[in-house]
Amino acid sequence: MRPLIIAIDGYSSCGKSTLARQLASALQYRYIDSGAMYRAITYELLRRKVDLHDRDAIQQVLNNIHLDFQYDPAKQRSVMLLNGEDVELAIRSWEVSEAVSQVAALPEVREFAVAQQRRMGEQRAIVMDGRDIGTVVFPDAEVKIFMTADPHIRAQRRWKELQATHPEISLAEVEKNLLERDRIDTQRTVSPLRKAADAFVIDNSHLTEAQQLQLALDYVRQIQHNQPIRKTTIS
Ligand code: DC
Repeated sequence: MRPLIIAIDGYSSCGKSTLARQLASALQYRYIDSGAMYRAITYELLRRKVDLHDRDAIQQVLNNIHLDFQYDPAKQRSVMLLNGEDVELAIRSWEVSEAVSQVAALPEVREFAVAQQRRMGEQRAIVMDGRDIGTVVFPDAEVKIFMTADPHIRAQRRWKELQATHPEISLAEVEKNLLERDRIDTQRTVSPLRKAADAFVIDNSHLTEAQQLQLALDYVRQIQHNQPIRKTTIS
């Protein structure tokens, strides 16, 4: 059976990466966290104190960035490498979270990231999550899943996660940041977040991880068994 490309899109803090990772593991596919790439670019721009309005300076930084994912056997997951440096932890910081939507809306940043994401999909057998995977990066992906959940429930989940590293941040601040990211992600001119017409929607507000995985796996199996021949942009 031909390996699939599985695109998972949806709002911030919807559990996309949890589902994508578990789906990849169940199918023995490679998991690619496209948001981590935008986060790594943002981290590098902040670290270099680049003015986020200075498009030339941003392009300069992009010209010198090499992004890669590497499997870390100790962590039993792949980590984001920025010019060979493991930045997995640093890119999850609050500072990066606050700036990343602004950076991800820049056309040159998207062009850079999308080209790399398409290259990573050349071997197929991947699960990639993000905001524009099923609409722009792989519009012909065989499986497209769009995830959503109640914003208040999403904020609570994210706030709980942040307790370990940023106990000073309130639930209200987390919810505000999340809604602002949703607003920027859905309203930007280039590749806004939207549901692909042929995406399977999962609202996980009241689902357990096991239940959402089961739903997704059932959907994938259904596609695998009735797989129509579809052209893909990368083969
Ligand atoms: O999934 P995440 O929260 O780690 O994504 C970080 C940011 O990157 C988010 O604000 C939206 C942006 N993003 C994007 O624009 N396109 C993608 N394919 C993935 C993420």
